[in-house]
Amino acid sequence: MGNDTNVTWHDHQVSRDKRESLNGHKGCVVWLTGLSASGKSTIANVLDHKLYQMGMRSMVLDGDNVRHSLNAGPGMLVDTHGETFAKRFGLGFAAIDREENIRRIGAVAQLFSQAGVIALTAFISPYRADRDRIRKNLEPNEFIEVFVNTPIELCEARDPKGLYKKARAGEIKGFTGIDDPYEPPAAPELVLETADKTAEALADEVIVHLRERGILPA
Ligand SMILES: Nc1ncnc2c1ncn2[C@@H]1O[C@H](COP(=O)(O)OP(=O)(O)OP(=O)(O)O)[C@@H](O)[C@H]1O
Ligand SMILES: [Mg+2]
Repeated sequence: MGNDTNVTWHDHQVSRDKRESLNGHKGCVVWLTGLSASGKSTIANVLDHKLYQMGMRSMVLDGDNVRHSLNAGPGMLVDTHGETFAKRFGLGFAAIDREENIRRIGAVAQLFSQAGVIALTAFISPYRADRDRIRKNLEPNEFIEVFVNTPIELCEARDPKGLYKKARAGEIKGFTGIDDPYEPPAAPELVLETADKTAEALADEVIVHLRERGILPA
C-alpha cells in the first residue's frame, strides 16, 4: 500500500461546532441528482443566491467548475503535465472515470461541509452506489440527497445543449436516460417534482427542508 499508512490524522483545533456557530447554520451537502436538463444547475444557483441573501454560506459544485480543474480531462493536462500524467490522472467518461469523478466531488463537498458551508452539488450522478458511498462517508443529517424528478420527455423537450438529440442520433454513446441507466435514489431526503414549478419555488422547497432538519435556523 506504499507510505500512505504513515500519514497521521491531526486533531483540528477549530471544531466543527465552532465553525458552525460562527456561520449561524450547519454545514451539509445538498446533493442534487437527476437527468440531464432536469434543472439541477438552475435550482442550485437559485438556491445559492437565496442562501447568500439570507446570510448563509454556500457553494455550488457543478460540472464546469469541476471538470475544468479538479477533474480535468487528459486533453487539458497533457500540455502542462505530459502524456503519462494526463493518462493516469485525467478523467474521461468511461464508467471508472465517472465513478472517480463523483468520488472526488464527494470528498470536496465533504470538506466544504466540515468547514460549515452548505455545499450544493449539481451532477447527474446516475449510479446509486456512487451516491451511497458518499453518504456513508458523511455524518447522519449531513448528506441531503435531493432527487430532481423531471420526466425524461420534459428534459428531452428542453434539451438546451442538444445532447438528447445527439444521443438519439447515436452521436453520443452511453447517454444517461437513453442508452445508459439513471438509477433514482431509493430513499432520498427530498424529491422535487419539477414539472410546472419554477426553479424559484423549488429552491424554496429545499430551504424549507433544510430548516425542518435544523441545518438552517428556524
Ligand atoms: N423549473 C424549471 N422550469 C422550467 N425550465 C427549467 C426549470 N429548471 C430548469 N429549467 C430549464 O431547463 C434547462 C436545463 O436546466 P439545467 O441546465 O439546470 O439542467 P441540469 O440538470 O443542470 O442539466 P445537466 O445535467 O445537463 O447539467 C435550462 O434551459 C433551464 O433554463
Ligand atoms: Mg447542469
